[in-house]
Amino acid sequence: MQLKLKFRVRLSLFHLELAIDHNLDVGEFMMKKYQQFISLVLLAIAANPTFAADAAAGKAKAALCASCHGQNGISMLPQNPNLAGQKELYLVNALKAYKAQTRKEPTMNAMAAPLSDTDIANLAAYYSSLKP
Ligand code: HEC
Repeated sequence: MQLKLKFRVRLSLFHLELAIDHNLDVGEFMMKKYQQFISLVLLAIAANPTFAADAAAGKAKAALCASCHGQNGISMLPQNPNLAGQKELYLVNALKAYKAQTRKEPTMNAMAAPLSDTDIANLAAYYSSLKP
């Protein structure tokens, strides 16, 4: 690809006029920029947690849940459900329902209220990855 650049520089102090016609080969330059752009897009996708739930981040968040659902998602208390090995989508849906209060249970409504969609995805990825 060829790009014609025209520069016109006027140095009035010296009453001098310079006209520069320059042929710049932008092929390689544009290709480099394009490659940089593509790698930036890929990086943004990789860094975006909505594209891949992060079980490690979920594990960190799950510290809040362990007192009721157990250290490894196996509850020590008879009234609390196990979460280990539960279906990931089920966990996502359950937490979203608690957050939206379409599933009503005061404890879990309160626990789910501050969770973001990312938190929910990460928690679901974590608990579903545990051995039931
Ligand atoms: C104070 C105790 C307590 C804490 C803390 C707690 N939960 Fe719960 N959780 C419960 C109880 C009790 C239920 C059963 C509620 C019901 O009947 O809907 C439950 C239900 C759930 C369910 C639905 C399970 C199913 O089989 O439908 C999910 C998912 C869940 N909790 C996730 C979490 C997560 C994630 C956290 C931490 C952010 C958390 N819970 C913190 C007590 C707790």
